Amino acid sequence: MRILVTGGAGYIGSHTVVVLQDAGHEVVIVDDLSNSSASAVDRIAEIAGKVPELHQVDLCDRDALFEVFSRTRPEAIVHFAALKAVGESVAQPLRYYRNNLIGGLNLFEAMGEHDCRTLVFSSSCTVYGGAPALPLREGAPTWAVSPYGWTKVMLEQILTDLHAADGRWRIGSLRYFNPVGAHPSGRLGEDPRGMPNNLLPFITQVAVGRRERLTVFGADYPTPDGTCVRDYIHVVDLAEGHLAALRRLQDRGGYHTWNLGTGRGHSVLEVIAAFERATGIAVPYEVAGGRPGDIAASYADPSRANEELGWRSDTSLETICADAWRWQQANPDGYPN
Ligand SMILES: NC(=O)c1ccc[n+]([C@@H]2O[C@H](COP(=O)([O-])OP(=O)(O)OC[C@H]3O[C@@H](n4cnc5c(N)ncnc54)[C@H](O)[C@@H]3O)[C@@H](O)[C@H]2O)c1
Repeated sequence: MRILVTGGAGYIGSHTVVVLQDAGHEVVIVDDLSNSSASAVDRIAEIAGKVPELHQVDLCDRDALFEVFSRTRPEAIVHFAALKAVGESVAQPLRYYRNNLIGGLNLFEAMGEHDCRTLVFSSSCTVYGGAPALPLREGAPTWAVSPYGWTKVMLEQILTDLHAADGRWRIGSLRYFNPVGAHPSGRLGEDPRGMPNNLLPFITQVAVGRRERLTVFGADYPTPDGTCVRDYIHVVDLAEGHLAALRRLQDRGGYHTWNLGTGRGHSVLEVIAAFERATGIAVPYEVAGGRPGDIAASYADPSRANEELGWRSDTSLETICADAWRWQQANPDGYPN
């Protein structure tokens, strides 16, 4: 298939493009490079041996997006492009609503107009809001605790309505848990701009000497060691989930939500310990207060994705840490430019 991947130069997108190309698909990337680098696309080409077509276009630019659709005639879409920093979304709600909602609406309209109705959408476990009962199952009510989270809830609702109105749409909303790690080659990885919001890039930046110490946000949560518990999923396993979802949508259609997680929760201190075991490097840390909006624990029940997609993620935390470290060591300052 010819698959258009929005946000394909980003962290999860770049790993997914490699998986799609390895499976024989032709990939067109649409990315405005607002949070990524064109070098990631060169690295994708290097790993997969095929150069994906890159269109540097903002999804909010409707005309430019429609032009890409007319020129490339995609058969399916994987939609990653979004702003994703929870705290930033609280401070800049309109920017988040504009980018994520207008970008999404333009994309879905372009799809309808160009007779392309197969979509895999990057949703998030953030749609479970305060995570009432663990493990999290797809049937739990959705709500959000940040403007970022609301954009995911709202886009899922829009896609539900779209499928209800026209059963030709084939849509999978993938609710990611906590993507971590890097491509085993060390050539692709997570390259956050500024202070990392996520734990593992923070750890690897400390280990490589870019930051003095890690901040552990909160140590008095009601968890076994007091630190937050999350379901960490290797980014390559996550990328493979997109291929599995596309296959399932091709076979059966429908609108679906699938949790992509491992089903296991690990605390911040457990991740630090796993990193130290995997690399032999000590990670100095200090404990600070919990971040507003952070919940104590979140982990998936991934059984629906296991059964319906024939997919599962069980890469160990040590392998995740070793891969993340290989990437950070080889690219201490992230991608060039
Ligand atoms: N990383 C996580 O922890 C996580 C967890 C759950 C869900 N998600 C979702 O997965 C998706 C990918 O996340 P990521 O971690 O790879 O983020 P990322 O920032 O690395 O990738 C997103 C890409 O989209 C591009 N982009 C943003 N707005 C755009 C626009 N208007 N037009 C064109 N391109 C645009 C950025 O330049 C970037 O390359 C996002 O939708 C995110 O909300 C991420």
